[in-house]
Amino acid sequence: MTKQIHLAAHFPGVNNTTVWSDPRSGSQIDFDSFRHLAQTAERGKFDFFFLAEGLRLREAKGRIHDLDVVGRPESLTVLSALAAVTTRLGLAATVNSTFNEPYEVARRLATLDHLSGGRAAWNVVTSFDAFTGENFRRGGFLDEADRYTRAKEFLQTARELWDSWAPDAVAADPESGRFLRPGGVTPFRHEGRHFDISGVFSTPRGPQGHPVIIQAGDSDEGREFAASSADVIFSRHSRLEEGRAFYRDVKRRLAAYGRRPEDLKILPAVTYVLGDTEAEAAERAAEIRRAQVSPQTALYFVEAVWGRDLSGYDPDGPLPDLEPDLDDGVSKGHAQFRGDRGAVAAKWRALAEEKNLSIRELVVEVAAPQTFVGTPRSVADEIDRFVQTDAADGFIFVPHLTPGGLDDLVDKVVPLLQEKGVFRADYTGPTLRDHLGLAPRTLTTRTEEIS
Ligand SMILES: Cc1cc2nc3c(=O)[nH]c(=O)nc-3n(C[C@H](O)[C@H](O)[C@H](O)COP(=O)(O)O)c2cc1C
Repeated sequence: MTKQIHLAAHFPGVNNTTVWSDPRSGSQIDFDSFRHLAQTAERGKFDFFFLAEGLRLREAKGRIHDLDVVGRPESLTVLSALAAVTTRLGLAATVNSTFNEPYEVARRLATLDHLSGGRAAWNVVTSFDAFTGENFRRGGFLDEADRYTRAKEFLQTARELWDSWAPDAVAADPESGRFLRPGGVTPFRHEGRHFDISGVFSTPRGPQGHPVIIQAGDSDEGREFAASSADVIFSRHSRLEEGRAFYRDVKRRLAAYGRRPEDLKILPAVTYVLGDTEAEAAERAAEIRRAQVSPQTALYFVEAVWGRDLSGYDPDGPLPDLEPDLDDGVSKGHAQFRGDRGAVAAKWRALAEEKNLSIRELVVEVAAPQTFVGTPRSVADEIDRFVQTDAADGFIFVPHLTPGGLDDLVDKVVPLLQEKGVFRADYTGPTLRDHLGLAPRTLTTRTEEIS
């Protein structure tokens, strides 16, 4: 059976893939930038608009990572404003489960769901590091092993809060003089390892019941969490073969939780570059990659892996003839470099030697991959091939320009997908759950009733 493709828009973030130096680049923080990108996505009938979140600006050698200065506005505030200038587009906020509390997050998400008429989504992230924790005076308070036990209990608690209001709790009946239907709102009581709270939730159940849940972790625990609890996975496996392996792995985990493969959509982050011919697209893609990796960015990447100050090195020269310093965390808050830096350094050195690459050329190779490069027709065909051969259920597009980075995709590629019959010509329902083809969320947890 031909699968329908799901598309989402990622607002360009604070990383090297955003080409802020391009003359067409606009503000990262003005509302008009958010509005342009969201309205473009809605014009293209996308499922949702996605905002990432970082709770601490990254640092290298005691200095704020330059690109982060463009800002990390608070997702739910931006999305609430976007709810007023869009009508169908889903609105997805990244909200951390380590540094927040369930009552507050549940209230804000239910509010966004109301304001938007059922279009809210929550990307539950678990970043737990002590560096970020310092901002909250709780540095290192959560072990890595506990990031998902807290996330799971956090989500469970939020679900209990949303379910404490029946869908028809607000009667507003002048005859009886009752605003609330008796028994429509129940007190909640959650006793667990991470949360011990009780009371009455303040916000009526949103139109979707529960917002759509997105998960972006990649570890084994992250995949299990997604299989048990998420509606969408935001994945970094955007190559065909690794995408298929990830897809198979995650979908096979669903049965253990009584769920069907179609209950969880897998959407890798991807980029695209178009040209009138394949050669023109390839040339443009190379130019963009070079713009994404300035000489300073190239050194920053290598310093972050080597754990050393390399400011005296020439970005157009060879890699330093030094072993990485694995004890020193030169770069803080950059998730990409938290793994085995020794292994990454060895891999980069081997690649640089094999292809005779300078520091900058190496970073262009490893840090600025592009997914779909070609004519609108070949890009549409590739997108469809990835989805039909189970490397994905769709994609979250990360444009390199703000705010016009999706214009071409929507104007030139989306119509071809619609022509093929693999992408909607129009929205068929009002809510994000409708766009994703997800079942409505019914009440799952009820406690004693109050009248
Ligand atoms: C594609 C992708 C996007 C992510 N975006 C964010 C983000 O915006 N903010 C954040 O704090 N963590 C983000 N993360 C981190 C994860 O959500 C997760 O919390 C972290 O990777 C730890 O979980 P893991 O060990 O299962 O990977 C992202 C991860 C992936 C794969």
